[in-house]
Amino acid sequence: MYGDRVRNPALLDRIVCADDAAMLIRDGMTVGMSGFTRAGEAKAVPMALAARARQSPLSITLITGASLGNDLDKTLAEAHVLARRLPFQSDPALRKAINAGEVMFVDQHLSETVELLRTRQLGPIDVAVIEAVAITEQGGIVPTTSVGNSATFSILAEKVIIEINLSQSDMLEGLHDIYIPTHRPTRMPIPVVAPESRVGLPFIPIDPDKIAAIVITEKLDSSSTILPPDDETRAIAGHLSEFLEHEVKAGRLTNSLQPLQAGIGTIANAVLHGLIETPFHNLKMYSEVLQDSTFDLFDAGKLDFASGSSITLSAEKYRSVMPDFARYKSRLILRPQEISNHPEVVRRLGIICINTALEFDLYGNVNSTHVAGTQMMNGIGGSGDFARNGYLSIFVTKATAKDGRISSVVPMASHVDHNEHDVDILVTEFGLADLRGLAPRERAPLIIANCAHPDYRDELADYFRRAVARGGHTPHVLEEALSWHVRLKETGSMR
Ligand code: COA
Repeated sequence: MYGDRVRNPALLDRIVCADDAAMLIRDGMTVGMSGFTRAGEAKAVPMALAARARQSPLSITLITGASLGNDLDKTLAEAHVLARRLPFQSDPALRKAINAGEVMFVDQHLSETVELLRTRQLGPIDVAVIEAVAITEQGGIVPTTSVGNSATFSILAEKVIIEINLSQSDMLEGLHDIYIPTHRPTRMPIPVVAPESRVGLPFIPIDPDKIAAIVITEKLDSSSTILPPDDETRAIAGHLSEFLEHEVKAGRLTNSLQPLQAGIGTIANAVLHGLIETPFHNLKMYSEVLQDSTFDLFDAGKLDFASGSSITLSAEKYRSVMPDFARYKSRLILRPQEISNHPEVVRRLGIICINTALEFDLYGNVNSTHVAGTQMMNGIGGSGDFARNGYLSIFVTKATAKDGRISSVVPMASHVDHNEHDVDILVTEFGLADLRGLAPRERAPLIIANCAHPDYRDELADYFRRAVARGGHTPHVLEEALSWHVRLKETGSMR
């Protein structure tokens, strides 16, 4: 039994139940788990760990690729298993524990975590728990719907637990491209020269002796939580498409654009979906998470190739894509997140990067992570990896949140993830501000007129006028700069 999935016969007697495998994880350990944007996470062992912790408390440092599905971050947070969590999350219960100071969350650029582990600036990893489609004859691990940080976790960990998930299609085998950069300072260039470059192995190569336990599971990945495009996200997509068409007319892009990256979430997905209605064709993606819109673009004949680190789909899309996966497979690659997000590759390929802001300020500083300056939302994810190094660094957001009570355009960003030097283009449903080549004093009037909600424009313009009267390269009325956030806290609205 399971011989087609565990192809090294010597490993078959390491198959155990999840409770027994979880016993390898002890209080105080650092554990690396597979999972990236709700795809391909280890499912049974973390559940068993949470159940054990409810009986006899234990806590660990948990490092993953990015967010976990199946409410695992919630379950682990509520069982108080998480002393420290990195590099990304998106779960409301864990978010609450982070903001209460119960879980120490390290919000990290997604390309960077494994560099820190490899150089022993973080870690060591005691146990890696990795979901797999299969284990090869040589003990190589074939990941499922995400690669994330799984390769380096497996290579560096003292012990590896593998969850063979029978619900994950064996069609996924051959999709992955596992390339591990050499050590610095003598590292060779990463040989990815196009989204379709295959430069590594289709499995994670490890010493099979390190595989301490194998658990058989059947639980599906969670569906993505993105909402379908609405009038506002369609308007954002429209402004962006118009801008890209203008770039083509100006001879700075062709109708195939440059490789595209789109961030997580409803807005970025809707913007990418909007490209279906444009004259652009033969597009390619070099992104991190491949959402529904990637497959919509394939089906519309617009997209030639997509490289990412995970595939996260809505339930409906999952039902149509997975049974027909052979149709897409030759046009897809999943890579380790350090390669999908690598600054060297992002700069080399000239990627058009589209990420989402919570808020931005009059000068183009972007906050993607902290609600009202202090409350963690999800984390920076890969947005910084891409924004700093992209060909075009674009941030999109709706002009207001919470029924208009919050303006996404504020006098001063209450937290800065992407500073004015990393941001080229801002887009809301009202329009687009092209900041390229503009000084701060030129940026503010454009951002107010093109991006802010009309209800907030006069007050922003008044602030800017008074700030300019005080002088400075980046004018501010410092004692008022965060007054909109203070008003929000005191009255529940920025109005
Ligand atoms: N203040 C407070 N809340 C805000 C806000 C603001 N300025 N702007 C948006 N929000 C809230 C929305 O109201 C919504 O709340 P809800 O979940 O209670 O409905 C929530 O943030 C999500 O916003 P939404 O407009 O639905 O956008 P989204 O799903 O596209 O997510 C981010 C937007 C910024 C939260 C998300 O893209 C993110 O976490 N980005 C950072 C990581 C990243 O960019 N990764 C990209 C590389 S993959």
